[in-house]
Amino acid sequence: MTDDDLDQIDRNRRHFLSIATAVTGLVGAGFAMSTFLASLKPSARAQALGAPVEVPIGMMESGELVRVLWRGRLVFVLRRSEEMLSNLGDNLDRLRDPNSEVVEQQPEYAANATRSVSREFLVVEGSCTHLGCAPIEDFELRPAENWQGGFFCTCHGSKFDLAGRVYDGVPAPTNLRVPPHRFVRDDLILIGQDTGVT
Ligand code: FES
Repeated sequence: MTDDDLDQIDRNRRHFLSIATAVTGLVGAGFAMSTFLASLKPSARAQALGAPVEVPIGMMESGELVRVLWRGRLVFVLRRSEEMLSNLGDNLDRLRDPNSEVVEQQPEYAANATRSVSREFLVVEGSCTHLGCAPIEDFELRPAENWQGGFFCTCHGSKFDLAGRVYDGVPAPTNLRVPPHRFVRDDLILIGQDTGVT
């Protein structure tokens, strides 16, 4: 057998192994998903299909971020500290839509200076308005970089402030979307339902 024959056999073997690995991965993922769905209780199933999601906020620390899923979408709930809130007005001239004028991006009750119902609690979808990547939180203040804390999308570098407002000069065209939500009690937010949405 020639060296070329041996090379070809080796290539065929590697090709087979990569296909086998991919199929095993898919079967594993399918199994994991069906196990996950089968284990959902009815209320959790309903939530997965779009029912509102309750988020207890009473125990959240100041500055803490909680991630929840609503209709398969990632939603951030951030309890902003007083310092975070006091910095919200510092970068208005660097924001693309500082006054929430793109009306599709928030319900009317969140078209305010903090983009929220309660000034302390920000509720925004964790989906970059460029191509839908999940931004990461970066809450560290870095005055030398003119960064007051916010969210950063690692996909193409879009930046959002602590009200989910997009900075100018980045690929994302609009602010992070505020989903419909309301406070059921002081310590409980319902995402997916407000007084005008069922
Ligand atoms: S998806 Fe976020 S910057 Fe492109």
